[in-house]
Amino acid sequence: MKHLLLAALLTLSAEARADGLPDPLVANDGTKITTASQWREKRRPELLELFTREMYGRSPGRPEKMSFDVFDRDEDALDGKATRIQIAIYPNGNPGPRMDLLVYVPNNAKGPVPVILGLNFWGNHAIHPDPGIRLTESWVEDNKQSYVDLAGVKDHEATAACRGINARQWPVEEILSRGYALATMYREDVCPDHVPYFASGAQSCFPELQQGDDNFGCIAAWAWSFSRALDALEKEPSVDAKRVAIFGFSRLGKAALWAGASDERFAMVLSNESGAGGAKLFRRGIGEDITRLNTVFPHWYARNFRKYNGKDTELPFDQHLVISLIAPRPVYVASADDDKHSDPEGEFVAAKAAEPVFLLLGSEGLPAEKWPAVGTSVQGGIGYHVRPGGHDVMEFDWKQYLDFADKHLKPR
Ligand code: GCU
Repeated sequence: MKHLLLAALLTLSAEARADGLPDPLVANDGTKITTASQWREKRRPELLELFTREMYGRSPGRPEKMSFDVFDRDEDALDGKATRIQIAIYPNGNPGPRMDLLVYVPNNAKGPVPVILGLNFWGNHAIHPDPGIRLTESWVEDNKQSYVDLAGVKDHEATAACRGINARQWPVEEILSRGYALATMYREDVCPDHVPYFASGAQSCFPELQQGDDNFGCIAAWAWSFSRALDALEKEPSVDAKRVAIFGFSRLGKAALWAGASDERFAMVLSNESGAGGAKLFRRGIGEDITRLNTVFPHWYARNFRKYNGKDTELPFDQHLVISLIAPRPVYVASADDDKHSDPEGEFVAAKAAEPVFLLLGSEGLPAEKWPAVGTSVQGGIGYHVRPGGHDVMEFDWKQYLDFADKHLKPR
């Protein structure tokens, strides 16, 4: 009995702590948003501006000098299963910082095929042992991680021993066999996720965007890089650039959400355990908070975001609004039970709180009234699951993402 009472109290307090969330359908001036055109013309632009200024920072858009170089096309990759295409993206033209986009297109699918586009943590060469993938020349992190063996990283440089070390999180063959192309880029090609911040990668092409307090942070840079990868995919006839789902895990999941919110060309967003500054709500005051984000990762968000240190529970905006900016395009928010840092329930509450916008725009909502049981996937216009285990990308996650993509991106 005592336990039941305690459980009820805890549930109550968790819900109560999400009370007072800003309403996605009430504009800053108090106007109620009741039509799709009011959303598009009034609320959506003001939310984009709010998050750009106060949290993520200003991105440069599509650079005029950007150029692409398709430096590899192998129609017989992965034992003939795929065509491997590698495209160097030079945001400022060549010579200059370069982002390598790796694309595998299934050979046995009728094209143009839909695409899963994800950023990776350890280099394109780490997602598959395929010797044809160009080894990154960018800096590589060597901090110990449970899900990747980094012994092959020497003085922050990738070596041949790093090929395929992160393959477990990237089921390339499975994705291809389901009829999707897979495209990926490396986070360090985009921006340095280490000291000296802002000094290398594509982000360093825009020093003027580091001047103000709405500076171009790493999360925004990764989000922007998703858009530049899409610019490149738009030129590739074997893939359907109108059916691109973006995927990111953890910090890269934070970026995928912001990319989906800010670039409406993306057809779908898959956010894997994005946590604080991603899908979770700050207002509940559970898990990683704003002070920690801004202290441990001072390069991720705009300097303006530091105004909110310690103010998680009174924030005038919150992450459900970022999810709502993706509407009516489908978004999947995934949590892991032991990933307490990301407040799994808070990710669910945020996704649910975005639902009114999806419904207003004629899409399906999130078909769950309560936080779903561990290991159960719910899939409407918004998808959600919390799987057993810790912070990782697992087979269970990919299975749901591919089913969700089939539901929305494949012709019925
Ligand atoms: C840290 C950070 C998280 C982030 C994660 C990751 O744990 O606190 O916010 O999501 O790194 O990107 O792996």
